[in-house]
Amino acid sequence: MEEIKIEIRIRSLHYDELNEEDRRLIEQAKEATQRSYAPYSRFSVGAAALLANGETVSGSNQENAASPSGLCAERTTLFYANSRYPDQAVKTLAIAARNASGFISTPISPCGACRQVLLETEQRYGSPIRILLYGTKEIYLINGIKDLLPLSFGEEFLSL
Ligand code: THU
Repeated sequence: MEEIKIEIRIRSLHYDELNEEDRRLIEQAKEATQRSYAPYSRFSVGAAALLANGETVSGSNQENAASPSGLCAERTTLFYANSRYPDQAVKTLAIAARNASGFISTPISPCGACRQVLLETEQRYGSPIRILLYGTKEIYLINGIKDLLPLSFGEEFLSL
């Protein structure tokens, strides 16, 4: 038997350690929570994507009474970015979330389905996506989906 160890790397930063570009993107993600449609969970999530051409797009979670029909902020934003600018790689995705008490202190991390879409988006453009997860206490910086979704299933298995 052989044990396989997989190492992932996540950096925890404070807001004042971020550069101006990352701060701006986080502010856009926070602002996007205001346009969330979350009457069922009352949990508002916003995301903002910085694209290779310098444009930014943002999105939020959109819920539905038939709950599986809604969509997380991350996928809303990535799909919008890919629809609006299909030839532009996504460089960085910032994510922020708040509940009735305000922005959460410990960052939330994208759900499994969103991680899979992040992987596909990276593979589509051939470049890693930096992921900034905002919390009031700390911010996590992840340098690509490999650190969020190890042992992933991607297009390489379909083109053997
Ligand atoms: N949600 C997101 O938008 N992103 C995440 O990373 C986790 C959860 C949304 C889905 C649903 O509208 C609400 O938050 C509660 O799960």
